[in-house]
Amino acid sequence: MEITPSILTADFTILGEVLDDALEADIRWIHLDVMDGNWVVNRTITFGPALIRSIRNRLGDDVVLDCHLMITNAEETWSQYVDAGVNLVIAHIEAVQDPAALIDSLHAAGVEAGLVLNPDTPVDMVLPYLPNLDLVLVMSVVPGKGGQSFMPEVEEKVRCFRKAIDQQISGGGRQTRLMIDGGIKAHNAAQVADWGVDIAVVGSGLINDKGSIAENLAEIHAELDQS
Ligand code: DX5
Ligand code: ZN
Repeated sequence: MEITPSILTADFTILGEVLDDALEADIRWIHLDVMDGNWVVNRTITFGPALIRSIRNRLGDDVVLDCHLMITNAEETWSQYVDAGVNLVIAHIEAVQDPAALIDSLHAAGVEAGLVLNPDTPVDMVLPYLPNLDLVLVMSVVPGKGGQSFMPEVEEKVRCFRKAIDQQISGGGRQTRLMIDGGIKAHNAAQVADWGVDIAVVGSGLINDKGSIAENLAEIHAELDQS
């Protein structure tokens, strides 16, 4: 299972150094949590295309950037994130009117397309789009901030997507990746890997006062290796 950091808990005044530390720890995928002050329940604002452009410029082209759009108007504004240099746009199924059209537009623009669902959203809302999706993201917290507690009740949802994706791949279909986001730390990383997750987003478990990104990542990898 691959680990990608969310930079949400970073000190933004030293974000460049945080990104350099991530690169030094061999991280090659960064998860960008975009909130518009409206869509998430706590009305948080995080950052937008301008900061993402700076991140892309600093990291160069070898790092995958995904943007997790927790915004009301992803269908109208997604191209701003593509122009800022992301490789993959992940939109909330609960916030999108026409997911099929959005996926097609993203592919036509040369980027990958993902859909994400909240912990209480049924898998049936996303499954019809699976054949065209590059990534499915299951939220294991209610989106809005870093550092929340993991919700183990999403297990059934993750396993359902794993099964559907495996069937799709064995039938010659798209190799959709399965991601999880929220509350993942060293103590539960092996658990979600066992559920069949391909990529886990880790925010406060990687960027915190306890250790460097490299040290925290090593701790997670040690747990994964033991399982
Ligand atoms: C939640 C975000 C997550 C989250 C991850 O709204 O989408 O990416 O901040 O942070 P941790 O790992 O601290 O839950
Ligand atoms: Zn996220």
